[in-house]
Amino acid sequence: METLKTEQAAPKQAFLLPRVPRWRSLLRSFALAKDPLPVLDATLARYGDTVELFIGGVEKSILTRDPGLTQHILQKNHRNYAKSKFTQGFSRYIGHGLLTNEGPDWLRQRRLIQPGFHRQRVAGLTGLMQELTAETLAPLAAQAASGGGAVAVPVHELMTRLTFRIIARSVFSTNFPEAELDRLAGLITEIQAFFVRSIRQPYLKPWFRLRGQFRYHDALAAELRAQLGGYIARRQAANQQPNATPPDDLLQMLLDVRYEDTGEPMTSDRVLDEALILLIAGHETSANALTWLTYLLAHHPGEAAAIRTEMNAVLAGRPPTFEDLPRLGKALFAVQEAMRRYPPAWMVDRVALADDAYNGLHIPKGTLFSLYFYGLHHDEKYWDAPAEFRPARFAPNPARPVQPFAYVPFGGGPRLCIGMQFALTEMQLVTLELLRRFEVQWIAGQPPVTMQPLITLRPRNDFQVRLRLVG
Ligand code: HEM
Repeated sequence: METLKTEQAAPKQAFLLPRVPRWRSLLRSFALAKDPLPVLDATLARYGDTVELFIGGVEKSILTRDPGLTQHILQKNHRNYAKSKFTQGFSRYIGHGLLTNEGPDWLRQRRLIQPGFHRQRVAGLTGLMQELTAETLAPLAAQAASGGGAVAVPVHELMTRLTFRIIARSVFSTNFPEAELDRLAGLITEIQAFFVRSIRQPYLKPWFRLRGQFRYHDALAAELRAQLGGYIARRQAANQQPNATPPDDLLQMLLDVRYEDTGEPMTSDRVLDEALILLIAGHETSANALTWLTYLLAHHPGEAAAIRTEMNAVLAGRPPTFEDLPRLGKALFAVQEAMRRYPPAWMVDRVALADDAYNGLHIPKGTLFSLYFYGLHHDEKYWDAPAEFRPARFAPNPARPVQPFAYVPFGGGPRLCIGMQFALTEMQLVTLELLRRFEVQWIAGQPPVTMQPLITLRPRNDFQVRLRLVG
């Protein structure tokens, strides 16, 4: 390995962090923009678990896969850490819902909305999740039946469609026309992709400006808001009708909640911000996790068979209910392991609001942190054979508990994902329903499936699996 005296890793007890010099960061900025994970992994392997570097050769940042430091930032001293200007910049397009909000206003909103995601509330949405999963898989089963017992499907497309339908119906209840749903999902995807490009390659900003790209994407965001604003206004009008019976969905929850101090409801604009955040945060993450899980199950038929065997023993052929889920642990462990191997939220950022210290490390105000969840989930110090798919790691084992903050697919501390219970239930149900109907088989001869870390970790290109009707 190439070594440079000035770049040697600092000894364990030192107060100074190893530093990747700016010239090296600059040199690697293209590789980083193109394929960040190998660059970041190689950097940590060379310098240690926490290192100072320059993102894109420009922005000084501390990259870490240290569980203790991650816990310090997300939980123990969370008040001193806000989301960075990168995340804040996203609010230009998506507004100031929970994901992009900060400080006392965030806390007030979080307290207000949190009860809407409690276990029992999620249990009430199980029927809908199941109905939409069945609706999505039934035509595939029909195609398989008329096609010799199997059908080939593009997995990311399938899971994105399914999870978007689940979150859109959970929020708005409405049975949207297909074209309208596709337009909504398309707007969100296009806005996100542009936002990521503008962050990863800041030097392209003048070019984007010249080409009217900012204006164009502002217009897309306005279209998205206008569309959702229309649904909300229609619901408010319907609620005014005599004998109105509003549906029990997440939009109604946002309309019904009242601030503890004033007794007032949210303004319509805030309801829109929060509903939009739920749509955005609530589908791509789950879609990616389910896509990777399907990929892994296709390569590990033994794990799929174990889930099916457990399911047959518990359910004897009927669809699962929310109450059954705790007895169907194998599907949940597979979901958890897929999110370890391919964490949808692969990196999270924070900035220090005031000077701080951690284990002798001085953290000046303004320090930018990149909390590298993908790195934490693959560190051999906490995981045996981290590249392998081993769902049994998540079976409760008091002798080998998972190290706190070495597994953080939903983040941690007070900003832990509000949709965690929703997402876990959804993913467990989809996995069970998929395996109840089909064997998932890998189709040989496809290009290698590689990772593309945008805001979430998705496959660079879609791939297909063969769904064969269970005999
Ligand atoms: C596999 C699925 C999911 C994953 C991996 C995931 C991951 C995360 C992570 C890591 C965070 C914390 C980000 C940070 O600290 O900077 C987060 C926050 C959030 N998630 Fe999720 N999420 C998932 C599904 C969902 C779903 C289904 C919803 C909504 C129904 C949702 C809504 C949110 C919201 C609103 C926040 C912001 C919470 C706050 O800051 O108070 N997520 N999610």
